[in-house]
Amino acid sequence: MKTNYVCSNCGGIYSKWYGKCPDCGEWNSFEESAEETPPKKGSKVRKTAALKGDSRVFALNDIPKSEKIRYQTGMNEFDRVLGGGLVKGSVVLLAGEPGIGKSTLLLQICANLGENHKILYISGEESPSQIKLRASRLGVDTQNLFILCETDISKIIPELNSLLPDIVLVDSVQTIYDEDLSPSPGSVAQVKAAARIFIEIAKTNGISVIMVGHVNKDGGIAGPKVLEHMVDAVLYFEGDKLYAYRIIRSVKNRFGSTNEIGVFQMSEYGLEEIPNPSEMLISERPDNVPGSCAVCVMEGTRPIVAEVQALAVQSVFPSPRRLATGLDYNRVNLILAVLEKRLGLKFGLNDVYVNVAGGLELKEPSGDLATAMALISSYKNIVIPKEYIAFGEVGLAGECRTVSNAENRINEAIRLGFKKIIVPYKTVSRLKKKYLGVEIVPVKSVFEILPIIS
Ligand SMILES: Nc1ncnc2c1ncn2[C@@H]1O[C@H](COP(=O)(O)OP(=O)(O)O)[C@@H](O)[C@H]1O
Ligand SMILES: [Mg+2]
Repeated sequence: MKTNYVCSNCGGIYSKWYGKCPDCGEWNSFEESAEETPPKKGSKVRKTAALKGDSRVFALNDIPKSEKIRYQTGMNEFDRVLGGGLVKGSVVLLAGEPGIGKSTLLLQICANLGENHKILYISGEESPSQIKLRASRLGVDTQNLFILCETDISKIIPELNSLLPDIVLVDSVQTIYDEDLSPSPGSVAQVKAAARIFIEIAKTNGISVIMVGHVNKDGGIAGPKVLEHMVDAVLYFEGDKLYAYRIIRSVKNRFGSTNEIGVFQMSEYGLEEIPNPSEMLISERPDNVPGSCAVCVMEGTRPIVAEVQALAVQSVFPSPRRLATGLDYNRVNLILAVLEKRLGLKFGLNDVYVNVAGGLELKEPSGDLATAMALISSYKNIVIPKEYIAFGEVGLAGECRTVSNAENRINEAIRLGFKKIIVPYKTVSRLKKKYLGVEIVPVKSVFEILPIIS
């Protein structure tokens, strides 16, 4: 029998063992696996599952049009990330690090979903009494929620067939195993097999499935990445345990846009939605301190206002320190190089720290202009007034380039009371309407920043 090595983080398959996965860069994530063999004939799972898709050929025109049915989870933030609710018959993977709040979220959505739909919560991690305790802490009390604490798939399927729920929650997919497969629970083959069975159940019976997938750092169990291509939607639950708030981000969605985020705050009573994250992110901005600039970025379809902070101090080290939190490190270095070369600012002699306040991650280049402004502000010790906000990309020649969704960003900035909006030069001519009561300041290049703020 041929042996392969499979990365438990990303599912990459190689014929020899590597200490570091060439695909995803994870260390110590390879596990030995026999080449995937189909389950033995007549095995328990096959018999009980007995769920086959329709394998005939259809003309596109003959396929009846069906309306997508969506279940409202009662948490608007979560519904938006899903693209407007949980689609009937879809399979969603909810991935995140242990302790981030996945089980909490699943139980909380049961409160609303359970009003009209039958839910089966399969837990391989907690006992029924633990779940009951958590449910009462979260105030979840519904007649339609059924709990099954079981990890053996062949015992889960008969329960599923007799209960016939509308929604199945699996917490977590890595604990579910099929005893007909040899590797231990949590291995790539087991996790894929478990996911495949739940997907089959979802597609043939129109049951919606949400599977929890633990993100693991040590490679001990297969990560959610090995399942991403199999499911309809992949949601990542992000957040720093040091911050109370959590972000759910969709990275794949067959029924909605990706990069959509939902913002929550973790409290004793569970996850609370934060419908206006901008207000929270800028609520603690300091007064009269150089090195702070507001920025408006897009997260999916939503504009979010955040604060970029920069601190440039004379370095005492032979090679100055650079630190970027919430921004791309290389992007910050690029902006520093542009400012040094074009404006002659001696950042090379300074330690530079850049941070996005509140723990948000800015993933798009529209934060460049605000980063450059915060850096200049700190270097020159000039305070940027609190009612200024900026967005735009900075190029290598120091030029300011337009970014998408300018109008949405401007509207959000106006809603939050900003009075001076600094935008790339070209953006202004593309605006379809005039904005009263605010000043829209076009900039062509980084040369124009200093006159604006001083
Ligand atoms: N009794 C409690 N009071 C307040 N917060 C709690 C309590 N129990 C758990 N939590 C919060 O819930 C989090 C665990 O969430 P959980 O849904 O179990 O995470 P996951 O399922 O992602 O591992 C903890 O990190 C903690 O912040
Ligand atoms: Mg959990």
